[in-house]
Amino acid sequence: MSDNKTSTGRARILTGDTPTGQLHLGHWVGSLENRVALQDQYECFFLIANMHAFTTRADKPADIRRSTIDIVKDWIACGMDPEKSTFVLQTEIPGIAELSWYLAMLLPFNRVMRNPTLKSELEDKGLGDNYSFGFPMYSVGQCADILLFRPELVPVGEDQLAHIEPCREVARRFNQMYCGVNPHTEDEDYVKAGGLFPIPTGLVGRVARLVGTDGKHKMSKSLNNAIFLNDTFKQIKKKMGGLYTGRMTMDEPGDITNSLFEYVHAFIRDDDRIKELEEAYSKGDNIGDGHIKVEVAEHIDKLLEPMRERRVPYEGEAGDQKILELLREHTKQANNAAEETLYLAKQAMKIDFGKRSLLFE
Ligand code: TRP
Repeated sequence: MSDNKTSTGRARILTGDTPTGQLHLGHWVGSLENRVALQDQYECFFLIANMHAFTTRADKPADIRRSTIDIVKDWIACGMDPEKSTFVLQTEIPGIAELSWYLAMLLPFNRVMRNPTLKSELEDKGLGDNYSFGFPMYSVGQCADILLFRPELVPVGEDQLAHIEPCREVARRFNQMYCGVNPHTEDEDYVKAGGLFPIPTGLVGRVARLVGTDGKHKMSKSLNNAIFLNDTFKQIKKKMGGLYTGRMTMDEPGDITNSLFEYVHAFIRDDDRIKELEEAYSKGDNIGDGHIKVEVAEHIDKLLEPMRERRVPYEGEAGDQKILELLREHTKQANNAAEETLYLAKQAMKIDFGKRSLLFE
């Protein structure tokens, strides 16, 4: 790692979210929690992929704008600190679109289409053959999002690993083709060997895949099975209450691998208590699902309580304005970092015909 220290002396992180709705507990355990934990140790860039939101919702610009602001509020609420980290608004970073083009030349079309996450998205959204050219392009764009900031670590939910893999491939190829790095080089040595891009690693959170409150599918806003970071205790209790386990009575031995216990493990952060619950539940020792659901709901509420407080200064229209100001400020920092990489990439590609500076007002 020491070979890739930036001007701040810290290795970098880049990760982000597409603004298609509010963030939920699945995002928290999958990626947000890692971001908060790592932001002192790493120089962090957190991206709002609002350009990507247009790949499936080009007809809904107002929703995308609303959601862009809400995501930043969610971030601040959960402890991602704009004083420590840089928030990157994708549509204000022209280098991303520019680098996407160059990287698109280094990725075989079939490789892009083979991405299992891309495929399942097409399925989930019922798009069939009916999707825009821009839709698969976003996966090349995601490589550019990442590489333009030259991070070593990309904290993501499990489903995103399929996007990190082509990013690693294209980084190796760029470094080999344009920076003369030997193809036998170990991934962690690419920068030392003269490469521009470190080969980034995906980092999946504590709970790779949180089940939704339907007890079946992955937590997701579109499946209506999500507990949002700004839900009230009442909402949390109601959603937890609806979690289906199939168990009928409280003296019936319960299955401690069921969805309710996934929540127990994810949100009751006390090993002794978890053990106690597991023992009682598996014996059918007079402990009802309802009781455990309330206990889990209380823990979730405790987790969300400080988030509610951090949200207060950003409420309403005045809060929206503060977020927009903050994004404007951060756009300058983000473009500084992005333009530096882009210039070096163009130099490596022998298309460095002059330096430019971006004015942003
Ligand atoms: N595709 C990611 C998601 O929907 C968001 C994203 C865009 C991203 N670019 C990224 C995540 C770069 C990590 C790194 O969740």
